[in-house]
Amino acid sequence: MKAASAMLLVLTFSIALQLGQASPSSLKVGMKETRSILIFGDSTVDPGNNNKLRTSAKANFAPYGMNFYGGQPTGRFCDGRLATDILADKLGIAKSIPAFLDKNLTLEDARTGVSFASASSGYDESTATNSKVLPFSKQIEYLRHYKLHLQKMVGPSETEKMLNTAIFIVSAGSNDLMKVAIKDSTNVSMPDYESYLVTSMAKYIKDMHRLGGRRFVLVGVPPVGCLPIIRTFSGADKCVDGLNELADSFNSKLVTQLGVLKKSLGVKTAYLDVFTVMSEAAKYPEKYGLIESSKGCCGTGMLEVGESCRGQSTCKNPSKYMFWDAVHPTEKMYQIIINNVTSGIYRDILY
Ligand SMILES: *[C@@H]1O[C@H](CO)[C@@H](O)[C@H](O)[C@H]1NC(C)=O
Ligand SMILES: *[C@@H]1O[C@H](CO)[C@@H](O)[C@H](O)[C@H]1NC(C)=O
Ligand SMILES: *[C@@H]1O[C@H](CO)[C@@H](O)[C@H](O)[C@H]1NC(C)=O
Repeated sequence: MKAASAMLLVLTFSIALQLGQASPSSLKVGMKETRSILIFGDSTVDPGNNNKLRTSAKANFAPYGMNFYGGQPTGRFCDGRLATDILADKLGIAKSIPAFLDKNLTLEDARTGVSFASASSGYDESTATNSKVLPFSKQIEYLRHYKLHLQKMVGPSETEKMLNTAIFIVSAGSNDLMKVAIKDSTNVSMPDYESYLVTSMAKYIKDMHRLGGRRFVLVGVPPVGCLPIIRTFSGADKCVDGLNELADSFNSKLVTQLGVLKKSLGVKTAYLDVFTVMSEAAKYPEKYGLIESSKGCCGTGMLEVGESCRGQSTCKNPSKYMFWDAVHPTEKMYQIIINNVTSGIYRDILY
């Protein structure tokens, strides 16, 4: 079903900024060391890697990008910047984080970080391969290539230092959960599938650790039951509680596993809870200066995402909307998320 596959394009999430709890001196030390961000996951953090793939999971056409620098589509599933771009800017690292597969990538870009993420991907390899996008195994292989390039550019010891201090951001899981929750034909016991996904996440973080990663930011999944497209299909005028409960339960497992990794690998970790702030914004949009949280800004806002959003008219003011298309947040919502989670990043990663 076309709509179901559109749903698999999924989400976005991430990070939140707020300098609240870090003292100026700890902030300075952390920032002096951290000069790059490396990103893995799905459409919530893909700046355009899919442009280069034979997949229908693309967003490199108008109206996507209308509020990005230059008002140009880039492949980001958003009207403007992703949360990871906003974070990079707030930390003074870069104005945005480019796609690893962008052929215009410069040495300077490579120094401040890249994203290996791919819209429609997930912790389950088959989620990605079904959509002909980059599975995590491929994203890690590209990290290996990136490391080799860096070694040629700046030498092995500087490369090691850069990777040790880089912020590794991992944001995925929604496409996996929706795939299984929506497909009637699949009878996967959800607790087992959730555990499988979490184990798989842990394996990829261990791979990144082996390649030099020491600071990991894990982004939880959003309240998927509140996505406009899910609301449309459920026929209800509110968020679908069952899917939100599933997301919430999955997030608890992510948090537990992250704690295990932190101990066993001796690394710094931060968990970004996007579920809570997005649930709150869905319920009380006015609290965040928004007026619409039930439908997207593109087209009717009820179904359009990716290809079906191509060339559609948009709402007047995306910055009053929580969702840009029927699945992905607006830049405004990403800013709200970043404002909510940044203090946690300083506290847990940049001290
Ligand atoms: C790459 O650079 C060229 C020349 O500046 C530009 O026309 C093109 O749009 C850029 N491509 C991307 C993917 O940014
Ligand atoms: C789904 O799997 C469970 C556990 O294996 C089983 O008890 C149940 O009958 C299955 N449901 C369907 C519709 O096949
Ligand atoms: C983040 O948002 C949640 C939900 O609204 C709120 O309870 C929490 O205090 C916020 N945290 C920060 C640091 O803004």
